[in-house]
Amino acid sequence: MAIVSSNIDQSDSLSSKGKKRVVDGAPLADEKRSFREDGLRPKCLDDYIGQSALKEVLGIAIQAALGRGDALDHVLLYGPPGLGKTTMAMVVAKELGVKCRITSAPALERPRDIVGLLVNLQPKELLFVDEIHRLPRIAEELLYPAMEDLRLDLTVGKGSSSRVRALELPPFTLVGATTRAGALSSPLRDRFGLIHRLDFYNLRELQSIVRRASELLRLPLNDDASIEIARRCRGTPRVANRLLRRVRDFATVQGQKDVIDASLVEEALSLHCVDRRGLDATDRRLLELLMNSYGGGPVGLETLAAALGEDASTLESVVEPFLLQIGFLKRTPRGRVLTQVGKSHLQEQQKI
Ligand code: ADE
Repeated sequence: MAIVSSNIDQSDSLSSKGKKRVVDGAPLADEKRSFREDGLRPKCLDDYIGQSALKEVLGIAIQAALGRGDALDHVLLYGPPGLGKTTMAMVVAKELGVKCRITSAPALERPRDIVGLLVNLQPKELLFVDEIHRLPRIAEELLYPAMEDLRLDLTVGKGSSSRVRALELPPFTLVGATTRAGALSSPLRDRFGLIHRLDFYNLRELQSIVRRASELLRLPLNDDASIEIARRCRGTPRVANRLLRRVRDFATVQGQKDVIDASLVEEALSLHCVDRRGLDATDRRLLELLMNSYGGGPVGLETLAAALGEDASTLESVVEPFLLQIGFLKRTPRGRVLTQVGKSHLQEQQKI
């Protein structure tokens, strides 16, 4: 399967205070650039660990499409960043034996961007559009007849002499990915035949992902070391692989020749301030502020943001979701509250 990328958005995933966080599920700039070389991505469904329901649904759809000699139906994948939506699109293309053309919705600014991609598609090829909820209106409207009737409605000429010319497209598969399925318009959502959510991975799956990656990187880890990375990666393979690379850097600099154990992982990741539950310094600053200055809350978002010197919307969309998900933080009508588990975690950390 060939991968063809088009205008990938190079804006980096900056988070709290504009700093890159090693635990951010979104790709960092160098990870975006190196996605073709990234040998850690699974290449086929059998190698893809986790997301078993999605694998089963796609496996059947792929087999049926191949059997009929048809293009696969359009697929919408949604869920938090770093869970493998792009990887899954590449795997699907590989299983179908076709090229995967990759783009990102914000890059489709001018009508000719999406037109160029569509007219160059070969029969049954796969077009992957990341962040599809950010598709410009014009591109979205061009996609409707393309997805439904394999027809591209091109406007030729200007003003009163303009006409619409319909261009026939070959059968193709659009795979859209989004972190915000709710932000998609219903006409666009309705044109996908398969819509599936990717879930966070469990500890066992993450440990298998870390083991697989460590074998590919020729970095021997014992079981305690792989589970330690799995615990710290916030349910997200992209973070797991990134932490593994930081462990590899540390082992290299230390001149470590033996199998890597949990204490080396602990030492390497504490340099990046990533604790045993995957919290980093930004997470802890928020929780500690709640505990130490506001008796655990409730505290309004704006007050927290001002006290931390952060932007309220960054706090809400980047920092809080993981803390809410693991039950360390609660949002109440009167403000944010530190939970008992969150408090116990902070107290344990202070003892270490
Ligand atoms: N690397 C990143 N995500 C993966 C997955 N789901 N399975 C195997 N390796 C991976």
